Amino acid sequence: DWVMSSFAEEAVANLKAKIGDKKVLCALSGGVDSSVAAVMISKAVGKQLTCIFVDHGLLRKNEGDEVEEIFTKQFDVNFVRVNAQQRFYDKLAGVCEPEQKRKIIGEEFIRVFEEEAKKIGTVDFLVQGTIYPDVIESGLGKSAVIKSHHNVGGLPDYVDFKEIIEPLRNLFKDEVRKVGLELGIPEKLVFRQPFPGPGLAIRIIGDVTPEKIAILQDADYIYREEIAKAGLDRSIGQYFAVLTNLRSVGVMGDERTYDYTIALRAVTTTDFMTAEFAELPWELLGRISNRIVNEVKHVNRICYDITGKPPATIEWE
Ligand code: XMP
Repeated sequence: DWVMSSFAEEAVANLKAKIGDKKVLCALSGGVDSSVAAVMISKAVGKQLTCIFVDHGLLRKNEGDEVEEIFTKQFDVNFVRVNAQQRFYDKLAGVCEPEQKRKIIGEEFIRVFEEEAKKIGTVDFLVQGTIYPDVIESGLGKSAVIKSHHNVGGLPDYVDFKEIIEPLRNLFKDEVRKVGLELGIPEKLVFRQPFPGPGLAIRIIGDVTPEKIAILQDADYIYREEIAKAGLDRSIGQYFAVLTNLRSVGVMGDERTYDYTIALRAVTTTDFMTAEFAELPWELLGRISNRIVNEVKHVNRICYDITGKPPATIEWE
């Protein structure tokens, strides 16, 4: 598309002029926005950009490795992966309350990032993947905070930098995706569905343990694989598995089981403020259910969430 290709080229040229020979720092989440922003900068100034990727151990299956692969093999940046999984697990041990989980993860993230950023010293620019809807939303002053969402305005206070760069500030999501493809970012990443900062911690009801994370990752992986095979991965706004804290009785061969229930969530939405549950074909749901109970240990029951937002939210916590 001519308009976006000229946008990407022009943006890269402008960034190059603006940054010159200075140092740039980026907090990479593995999401679309921060990735596109980082790649734009890397096209402009290469290794003058350092990307710090904090792996909090709450990502979807294989996701950390995928991010590392893309940013070490495909693009020219200084890439730092911080394997901070255990730190997060320790802090989260025994914590059940959703907002408490968010707070702990947010604070620990800052601490880990800060420690890494200190090793680099003062940088001239800090990259943020802010897109146009973030700009509007943060200006609205929401009356009631339902969940302490989002990363807007999170970073700047604790990193030693001189100026923020927000290369996507004027773009809508679909434009960010076009630019991403134009820059050669794999489709898998460009069309990645939104994923909350606190990650799987808010998709595990109750306390978070490494064992529960592994169960949820495996179930969610199967779910996503089947949705993709059915060709629905780009038409559903968001879809994911939830590990309910509920165990129930089942039977496997001649044995009684007492294992977890996984809930499947899939919604269609335009703005994530309201949403409808997606009408997935029964046959697809049946296949996903069979695969999960057969392939994932400690799961013996699957439910499909048929609630809209409101009154439910998209996430369960
Ligand atoms: P809810 O559950 O409020 O979610 O209907 C709306 C959208 O926001 C995402 N979400 C979060 N994103 N940090 C984030 O970065 C969070 O704590 C958080 N909680 C929810 C959710 O995935 C959905 O896209």
